[in-house]
Amino acid sequence: MSRVKDPSLAPKGRQQIYWAERNMPVLLAIRRRFAEEKPLSGLRIAASLHVTKETAVLVKTLIAGGAKVALVPSNPLSTQDDVAAALAEDGVEVYAWRGMGERDYYNAIGFALSTSPDITLDDGADLTTSLHKLAHGVRDEVIGYVLETAGGLDFKALAAKVKGGTEETTTGVIRLRALHRSGQLLYPIIAVNDSYTKYLFDNRYGTGQSTWDGIMRATNSLIAGKVVVVAGYGWVGRGIAIRAKGLGARRVVVVEVDPIKALEAVFDGFEVMPMSEAAEIGDIFVTATGDIHVIRVEHILKMKDGAILANAGHFNVEVDVEGLEKIAKAKRSIRPYLDEYELPNGRRVYLIGEGRLANLVAAEGHPSEVMDMSFANQALAAEYIAKHKLPLGVHKLPYELDAEVARLKLATMGIRIEELTEEQRKYLSSWELGT
Ligand code: ADE
Repeated sequence: MSRVKDPSLAPKGRQQIYWAERNMPVLLAIRRRFAEEKPLSGLRIAASLHVTKETAVLVKTLIAGGAKVALVPSNPLSTQDDVAAALAEDGVEVYAWRGMGERDYYNAIGFALSTSPDITLDDGADLTTSLHKLAHGVRDEVIGYVLETAGGLDFKALAAKVKGGTEETTTGVIRLRALHRSGQLLYPIIAVNDSYTKYLFDNRYGTGQSTWDGIMRATNSLIAGKVVVVAGYGWVGRGIAIRAKGLGARRVVVVEVDPIKALEAVFDGFEVMPMSEAAEIGDIFVTATGDIHVIRVEHILKMKDGAILANAGHFNVEVDVEGLEKIAKAKRSIRPYLDEYELPNGRRVYLIGEGRLANLVAAEGHPSEVMDMSFANQALAAEYIAKHKLPLGVHKLPYELDAEVARLKLATMGIRIEELTEEQRKYLSSWELGT
């Protein structure tokens, strides 16, 4: 059973998937191998991922490997309805539409659990943590919504049946490591995010480009000449800051709590200051910290008239939207995914996509070329879980598989690299030779 917005959008979705496939050669190479070897034969996979054309290419790869897949969103506002319709028409169990409320969103998670998966794929860990809450007897409002569609299951038995799960994003990995530290993790996780061929590319170049794509589609603002403030100098923040420079921003200011990362930002050529100071000078603010309330009411009240706020972190908590809603004298929608708030001081600020991921809400998420590597890691992680009995814990994918993704990507780009000579190999493995 599927629930999508409009099944008649399927032909449009199919074309989008075709376009993504053209730009995801690594995943297609894995799909061809999966079709022959069927490493996922007989396994049920429940995936909570952004429902995009790139995710569709991953889902079709998993199906080629023999899996039966249920797909639900990992964000209420990121679903591409045409893609969801195309997948549903192809027999994937999809429960997703753009603009779901919180209840629908957790109903979808419950639906995914009701398929009794052997493997879970997650982006942000809502699916995995929901199952863990249920198995540990934790009940809260959102679990109430999950139970509306997953009621009647034995969740302890369900968690025991799961061979393993994957996690796509930094925020989700942080949550799952905390779950493991608390001693309550019930099945092993592969942190796909921690593969080099994921975070060095997706987090940096994917988010770096797609966040600006979202900001530009929502506002059509010129970036050249602007003062851009980036909160957080992890891989995502770095990508956003470097692309701001490339787009001609007059000043790029980094706000960072970690002294080492802050120093790196200085040496990379950016200004560094606290948010209380940056708030007064910024034209465009982008949050990428993974933490809560990075931009608070006290900062917003200092901002210039016309300031634009965008979030690139996984959850909609980085800008204190509730606080903003409370103090605002008026709010109105200006364009798709752009809301204007009139402040008590008479100034107006503009929030993109309700403070949710600007790249997936106001644009289409990362380009296919980068998701090619991220989702190659997802497919290989699912295969690894299917073939191994992993110990409980949050693991990285073995380096060899990570390097294989890079090798395949280079090959599809027609790029050859240098090889070690025998003499060099010996030199690197000996300790006797010095000056
Ligand atoms: N996360 C970021 N961009 C994405 C995309 N295009 N598809 C799925 N997940 C994503």
